[in-house]
Amino acid sequence: MSELLSESFGLVAQLVEQKPLKLLVLGSSPSQPTISIPMKIFFLGDIVGRSGRSVIKNHLPKIIEEFTPDLVIANAENLAGGKGTNRKTITEMMQAGIDAFTGGNHSFAIAEGHEIFERNDLPIVRPANFPEGTPGVGWKLITGKSQKRLLLINVLGRNFMAQHMDCPFRSIEAILAHVPREDYDASLIDVHAEATSEKQALRWAFDGRVSAVIGTHTHVPTADADVSDQGTAFQADSGMNGSLDSCIGVKKEIIIKKYLTQLPVTNELMHEGRMQMNGVLIEIDDMGRAMKIEHLRKVV
Ligand SMILES: [Fe+2]
Ligand SMILES: [Fe+2]
Repeated sequence: MSELLSESFGLVAQLVEQKPLKLLVLGSSPSQPTISIPMKIFFLGDIVGRSGRSVIKNHLPKIIEEFTPDLVIANAENLAGGKGTNRKTITEMMQAGIDAFTGGNHSFAIAEGHEIFERNDLPIVRPANFPEGTPGVGWKLITGKSQKRLLLINVLGRNFMAQHMDCPFRSIEAILAHVPREDYDASLIDVHAEATSEKQALRWAFDGRVSAVIGTHTHVPTADADVSDQGTAFQADSGMNGSLDSCIGVKKEIIIKKYLTQLPVTNELMHEGRMQMNGVLIEIDDMGRAMKIEHLRKVV
């Protein structure tokens, strides 16, 4: 069920399909069938700084034109200068075609950006398992172009992370218990975490109860795109957007020096050389079950 495809657009894509049909025909009357079109979500991993935003501005419109997603969602924790999120960069990315944003351990790195998390009218969430009193919320309902609604949830993992977070499993349970199922058509969890084992555990803990569990934070895409028998799409990390000739977005010489000397360094983002765009395209049926996940990767 898995194959490598070379798309006309120059993308390398890993495709995993749970069901072969792209259209479902519902209803018992052959004369009046109800055609159900899957909800398509394009989820982009961490967008890193100016070069990441440039990749999005230059290439996302073509992706939207080719794949016509209902919603484009991206992880915004590194949007502004590599750490943090602010109004200017969110506005820039919404103009490029992104509909909603998730966050991570760097979401609050810029103090002037905190206000955007308090805005109910902005489609941005931060990890739900931050302590009570943290600006913003960990879930929102987002309406797509086809008017279908997505429950967007964001959590931060706890393995190898500096923050002392609440339990991500219990945070998700609380959200699913709180939001009536009839209020949304599909659901996606951005698991912003370091450890693939923690991401896989979250995947299986909510298997069949959410449409997709997609990882972010490591900035490196994993080759494990999959749809379970219960209809939950998964990829441990969707990969970053920005510099490829770097160490996860930072100038490689700086990171090599850090490992060689163990001295503190000041990170500088890489803005030259090859750039990468990484995301996953997920198709979800009317029952909220994922049918297909496809990793789209473009190197320019
Ligand atoms: Fe990141
Ligand atoms: Fe992160």
